[in-house]
Amino acid sequence: MFSKIFSSSTFGIDAVVVEVETHFEKQLPSIIIVGLPDSAVRESKERVVAAIKNSGFEFPLKKITINLAPADIKKEGSAFDLPIAIGILTANGIIPTEAAEKTIFLGELSLDGSLRKIKGVLPIVVEAKRIGFNRIIVPANSVKEASIVDGVDVFGIENLKDVVSFLNNELELKPVKTNRNELFSQINKYNLDFSDVKGQENVKRSLEIAAAGSHNIIMIGPPGSGKSMLAKRFPSILPPLTFEEALETTKIHSIAGILSSDIALITERPFRSPHHTVSDAALIGGGSFPRPGEVSFAHHGVLFLDEFPEFKKNVLEVMRQPMEDYKVTISRSKMSLEFPANFMLVAAMNPCPCGYYTDPTKECTCNSGMIQKYMAKISGPMLDRIDIHIEVPAVKYKDLSSNINGETSEEIRKRVIVAKEIQIARFNEFPNIHSNADMGTNEIRQFCKLDSAGTELLKMAMTKLGLSARAYDRILKVSRTIADIEGSENILPNHLSEAIQYRSLDRELWMH
Ligand SMILES: Nc1ncnc2c1ncn2[C@@H]1O[C@H](COP(=O)(O)OP(=O)(O)OP(=O)(O)O)[C@@H](O)[C@H]1O
Ligand SMILES: [Mg+2]
Ligand SMILES: [Zn+2]
Repeated sequence: MFSKIFSSSTFGIDAVVVEVETHFEKQLPSIIIVGLPDSAVRESKERVVAAIKNSGFEFPLKKITINLAPADIKKEGSAFDLPIAIGILTANGIIPTEAAEKTIFLGELSLDGSLRKIKGVLPIVVEAKRIGFNRIIVPANSVKEASIVDGVDVFGIENLKDVVSFLNNELELKPVKTNRNELFSQINKYNLDFSDVKGQENVKRSLEIAAAGSHNIIMIGPPGSGKSMLAKRFPSILPPLTFEEALETTKIHSIAGILSSDIALITERPFRSPHHTVSDAALIGGGSFPRPGEVSFAHHGVLFLDEFPEFKKNVLEVMRQPMEDYKVTISRSKMSLEFPANFMLVAAMNPCPCGYYTDPTKECTCNSGMIQKYMAKISGPMLDRIDIHIEVPAVKYKDLSSNINGETSEEIRKRVIVAKEIQIARFNEFPNIHSNADMGTNEIRQFCKLDSAGTELLKMAMTKLGLSARAYDRILKVSRTIADIEGSENILPNHLSEAIQYRSLDRELWMH
């Protein structure tokens, strides 16, 4: 009267296999679950009892002890319903012991025995395969994301009764497979394209540079100038996700339960745009069972912060660590978890509280004190992490009414990819540097050498434009990217002078 069934639980963005042991004793009927269950796991016994009975199986009138091992891992969630039910039915002789071997069971049960979608299936399947399980049984609604891992048979089943029939060879099912190549051949069908944006050639150019060198960028312009429109199209000019990147991003969305049932793998770079009222926990992650936040949902993609100065100071402050480390570390008394958070920041703001300071067609109603206070909100360490500042002018009527379409995202992206390849070759021996934006002081010295004309130009700009010292390295990195887009080995004065233009917020005098 004993059974051992396998299940799994996520831990950060990885997973651990959990053993579900079931033992019966001839005593007054009761069920106890041991092994650090959280409340969802404890509630599981009510669901399991109802589901077993409502599926037409006899429920054993015995003392049932269920042990979830290893005990030192905190187990979260409702995915243990199915393995617990299978454990009870196996110990009771309704399923043969061999039938449940080498299989991972996952799924939440409804009272009527149907199986509900659960979180974190993808990391579990990846781990299960790694340690040699060859079969996974999940709710039908979770099967898509599970099926992306090959070399393991994944079955999506609707209810407990069918799982039992399947294990007893009374029901024939085919494992679900998703063809990776097919998935990736569909990628980059973004609905939004840069060719929709009329005019704004300078802004598009700066976004291209940002995409090519992974530079964070901030756009400053009046309402209706197209900042949000441009930001939303930004992922369409980034290089396509690699399979490994896609897997990492999908894992994060999977454990947070924000992956929709019809998606096997996220094949487009994510675009996240949290509102400025977002809490720091929602932005970087947190909770007693640490859950990833927006910065991790944007992993390998774009985090768009619209109305940038409206974000609370403490919220922007907590973003500094992930922006430097490309990951978030969340410490709890018993554990410390890491979630990847390698994103590109795109920020947008108005030039003043009323919005129209730089708009030639509308009167700005702010006084200079208000404007200075508004600009001061974004100064300092945060601005220090943004390489490119670009002013977005009000769209000219002539541009808006023109029939001429701009370049498509695909055309821009081709150049971005070429520049990216140059960087991959350049940083081949630097494991922590993937793009020009990642360069530290040493790399800047090595890869951003200037000739005497360039040195002279930069020196002049620093003093004449009143650029701050922190602007210096940013200008060099951005000019490196501009040179890469042009395929130029050396940084030339025209690359430098373009990069200098992208430091408008560093000028000691914003007023012009
Ligand atoms: N360059 C453009 N080409 C075509 N349409 C544009 C352009 N700029 C703005 N629009 C139109 O104006 C609308 C408003 O633009 P958008 O929301 O991007 O402005 P915004 O700069 O984000 O403004 P706000 O500061 O109010 O957030 C867009 O949805 C689009 O229809
Ligand atoms: Mg907007
Ligand atoms: Zn104003």
